[in-house]
Amino acid sequence: MSPPSPQDMLAVHGGTPLHGEIRVKGAKNLVSKAMVAALLGDEPSRLFGVPRIRDVEVVRDLLELHGVRVGDEGDALVLDPANVEHAAVDQINVHAGSSRIPILFCGPMLHRLGKAVIPDLGGCHIGPRPIDFHLQALREFGAVVDKTDAGLALTAPNGLRGTKLDLPYPSVGATEQVLLTAVMAQGVTELRNAAVEPEIIDLICLLQKMGAVITVHTDRVIEIEGVPRLGGFAHRPIPDRIEAASWAAAALATGGDVTVRGARQVDMMTFLNVFRSVGGAYAVDDSPDGGIRFWHPGGELRATALETAVHPGFMTDWQQPLVVALTQARGLSIVHETVYEQRLGYTAALNQMGATIQVYRDCLGGTPCRFGRRNFTHSAVIAGPSKLNGADLTIPDLRAGFSHLIAALAASGISRVYGVNLINRGYEDFEAKLAALGAHVDH
Ligand code: EPZ
Repeated sequence: MSPPSPQDMLAVHGGTPLHGEIRVKGAKNLVSKAMVAALLGDEPSRLFGVPRIRDVEVVRDLLELHGVRVGDEGDALVLDPANVEHAAVDQINVHAGSSRIPILFCGPMLHRLGKAVIPDLGGCHIGPRPIDFHLQALREFGAVVDKTDAGLALTAPNGLRGTKLDLPYPSVGATEQVLLTAVMAQGVTELRNAAVEPEIIDLICLLQKMGAVITVHTDRVIEIEGVPRLGGFAHRPIPDRIEAASWAAAALATGGDVTVRGARQVDMMTFLNVFRSVGGAYAVDDSPDGGIRFWHPGGELRATALETAVHPGFMTDWQQPLVVALTQARGLSIVHETVYEQRLGYTAALNQMGATIQVYRDCLGGTPCRFGRRNFTHSAVIAGPSKLNGADLTIPDLRAGFSHLIAALAASGISRVYGVNLINRGYEDFEAKLAALGAHVDH
């Protein structure tokens, strides 16, 4: 293995509370899907407030390989799908292993060209992350899926037809897959047990702008009436509520005070409740250039019990940054991860720094979930407060990586954090933001 490059290592001189103001742009987990949705239109689309992050670059490359012209207009992307074409398999495979977004090309490519080729999928290392719900749904629409050496090849010999679907779990990606396929399938699709995350609702709004007919019923039921053509969209995505919560947790863990411009209360209500219950303070500014100020009001933080869940529950991506703050709370905190089976591995690094976190296979502190029976280590007990000390850390995935960074900022002494390029996948200009908040970091 080649030694890590100096650019991929950040030396963090911890112990300084973060103070200041940063801004979040469009949500990574909407922007990447919106870019794929542009494939469905017969006109150019405009997406505003696009963050400069690696995941956006990967989707941009993939779109360009498929003949979409992508241009920049300030922080907007203009996506022109007039000449959509198949990409050479070896070109798509350059991105194999780096993103899970290609799976969402299936429906749009089948509609546009009758065929889709999808490389092996990557994304974060958080459990096996299967795509069985996606493939099952595509088959029900009439797609034929062939596994080849290069990945998956899909065709739709009789076109794509609306269908009745019931997801085994309200998967975000599978719901997006169904939306992006059903909007132009012939007839009506009824999707039960759909994900209803704010990013999904925003995708629905964007598709509606393109001409789609989508109804969100109560109880996770979405009905989509297929239409023969879609136009372009002009859309400003919802703000990144994962990035906002990450900086909020960093403010709390370091005893600081951070205003996150662009953050919106409505997308973060569950996070805000937990933030307050552990002793954090926040103030919402609803003005057009507003945001949310998050700070540590002094005194001791309080332990809590929380369970990650699908929306409107506590997001799985909020878990890792907040746990760092929980190492500073008095008492025993319990975290039950119910969305991913292996998303607590990062706690070993926190223990190495002085935290006391024990992980369990049982469903602790909440209702039994699908992982308890399957013997996955998915609950954690955090005993605090613990003094954190600087250490050498290697980042395993995006969100765990940001939690490592927060721990290094909260710790006394110097930490060397390796693999920081992974953070660029989802956090725009994070080093400049750290500098703006007064953090002492260098390469
Ligand atoms: C999206 O992943 C996000 N990624 C994740 O954020 C986020 O953690 C997750 O939704 C949950 O909110 C993007 O939007 C790019 P899922 P996704 O399908 O769509 C199981 C980040 O760091 N499942 O809702 O892949 C799956 O294994 C990333 O920004 C199947 O079993 O998540 C998991 O246990 C990390 N079969 C659960 O469903 C399937 O076919 C939820 O996954 C699909 C999913």
